Amino acid sequence: MAIAYLNGEWMAPADARVSVFDRGFMFGDGIYEVMAVYDGKVFTLEEHLVRLKRSLGAIRLESPHTDDQWRSIINEAVQRSEETPAYLYLQVTRGVESPRSHAYPGPGKPTVLITVMHAPVLARTEIVPYKMVTKQDFRWGRGDIKVTSLIANGLLKNEALDEGFDDALLFRDGELTEATASNVFMVQDGTVVTPPKSNFILHGITRDHVLALLAEAGVPCEERAISEDELLAADEIWITSTGHEVWPVGQVNDAVIGNGSAGVVWQVVDSLFQASKK
Ligand code: PDD
Repeated sequence: MAIAYLNGEWMAPADARVSVFDRGFMFGDGIYEVMAVYDGKVFTLEEHLVRLKRSLGAIRLESPHTDDQWRSIINEAVQRSEETPAYLYLQVTRGVESPRSHAYPGPGKPTVLITVMHAPVLARTEIVPYKMVTKQDFRWGRGDIKVTSLIANGLLKNEALDEGFDDALLFRDGELTEATASNVFMVQDGTVVTPPKSNFILHGITRDHVLALLAEAGVPCEERAISEDELLAADEIWITSTGHEVWPVGQVNDAVIGNGSAGVVWQVVDSLFQASKK
């Protein structure tokens, strides 16, 4: 059953309540992580903890817990929920402050929310390649911090949906950054290419995991800038995220990618990814 942990208390997610003066609600002043639970275990937990601490540090919020405390709360959440596969959502905000002020309160009490919810299991045949549209990446310059303020990501995603696409591929100064909630890979003449880490993209845990799997399998990979022309001419495109794992893209704007279905390199990387979950 889905479960929530809020500041030390366990409850049903629908019963979790925070103050209207929480800076997460007033300012979007918080960070988050989304983790996958496979076979009752959190996938790549250590990597998520590293990024969690990095995001907290970047927004000048002291971690309310040590690594061991995080591990123990997270594992208890998974055990209590008995959900698997599942998604674990973790959010830390700067806590409650009244009256409202842009200035940070003194060392306050951050709000910690964790939920564990059921995740669907898709048959491989249900993975239908996405239709993506290219858009200007107008988000702020710190896409590397996993902040809860996702207004720009939501606007871009919904513009794409309204135009009949599944999602948007974002470009800044003519270079591919990422999609609205995932990283992007292309295959060009047998080489897998993805944009390098920078302050403009989230340093995806799935991205790093896929790069490691490909390197181990001896598939050539490059982390470098990708232009729109290059992307449109790619043999394959995939997006990666905790929720989508590795998801093929069959169309960008009105250009068909490959033959429009999941490509041969995607088949390889998807098999490697599925095997790595065990
Ligand atoms: N999204 N880029 C953005 C902007 C993201 O929001 C995400 C994840 C990723 C991929 O990161 P990872 O591989 O660590 O999941 C890249 C999460 C899942 C979300 O917001 O729901």
